[in-house]
Amino acid sequence: ESSTEIDIGSIQPGQAIKAVFHKQPVFVRRLTPVEIAEAKKVDVASLRDPQSLEDRTKKGKEEWLITMGVCTHLGCVPLGAGEGEVKGEFGGYFCPCHGSTYDTAARIRKGPAPKNLEVPPYEFTSDTVVKIG
Ligand code: FES
Repeated sequence: ESSTEIDIGSIQPGQAIKAVFHKQPVFVRRLTPVEIAEAKKVDVASLRDPQSLEDRTKKGKEEWLITMGVCTHLGCVPLGAGEGEVKGEFGGYFCPCHGSTYDTAARIRKGPAPKNLEVPPYEFTSDTVVKIG
């Protein structure tokens, strides 16, 4: 049993970082107001894995999108956290293995992946630290 503490204090809106949790990559993205609006305007019922942004973030902290960095197709690491602007056409993450494309809430929108990027268990231990696991 192990958890990972991540200092999020220097992450700017629009940035995403990659950390490690249980030997797997985890993405911490600070959404911009535009990215939040894009996530909210999607008709949830139309999604392959129907979840709202609210389902995938903590109440009052919706700018913080914390997900595993593991594509739900065959487990590659999607691009978009720490690779500059490679986010794919839905503005979130893009898996280079077979083209799965995730939106600004890391929900699957195109390509073979069956599920959204997984949200791990986490909590904020202060305004600038999140504990995963
Ligand atoms: Fe990501 Fe296949 S592993 S699209």
